[in-house]
Amino acid sequence: MVDAASAILGQVAAAESSGGLAVAGSDTVPVNLKVNGVIRSLQVEPRMTLAQVLRGPLGLTGTKVACNRGACSACTLWLDRLPVCSCMILAVDVGDRLVTTIEGLADGDKLHPVQAAFIEHDAMQCGFCTPGLVMSCAALIERSSDPSSDEVTAAISGHLCRCGTYQNVVAATLAAAKVRNR
Ligand code: FES
Ligand code: FES
Repeated sequence: MVDAASAILGQVAAAESSGGLAVAGSDTVPVNLKVNGVIRSLQVEPRMTLAQVLRGPLGLTGTKVACNRGACSACTLWLDRLPVCSCMILAVDVGDRLVTTIEGLADGDKLHPVQAAFIEHDAMQCGFCTPGLVMSCAALIERSSDPSSDEVTAAISGHLCRCGTYQNVVAATLAAAKVRNR
């Protein structure tokens, strides 16, 4: 640890003496991410979040980043089928957990019931928050076959939608649960 700290301080001092900006810890490391059923092997900087890696090197831009600090839930995806904020997770910490993004939610050409219900119930306006909301609502109907309005409201309580689509999101999710139960 002391050696690593000394090395970083040495890099900083060298960068400063040469008049450049100091970037410590930028060396890349290998990761194998299981994304939407496919293993993606790549090199990432240890400081990169899962959201950054998905949207950058992996080109999966369906996951949106708004606040980038865990406050809005726009970046929600599933880790082992549980919704999480991907801007708060380092890619190097994902390990063997299964990553499911909005791109992996549909079954081929068949939309997930929540995706179809969002369209049917007009549950988006600008759509920026929509992928994250869909992932949270889809996770809810995975774990609760007949959720109440209050349960949907609780499931989306961390999501900030500037367009104020909340009522239609709740209606869409309740409808999607009914479709799922048929
Ligand atoms: S972008 Fe991740 S919580 Fe806002
Ligand atoms: S639909 Fe625009 S921010 Fe939610």
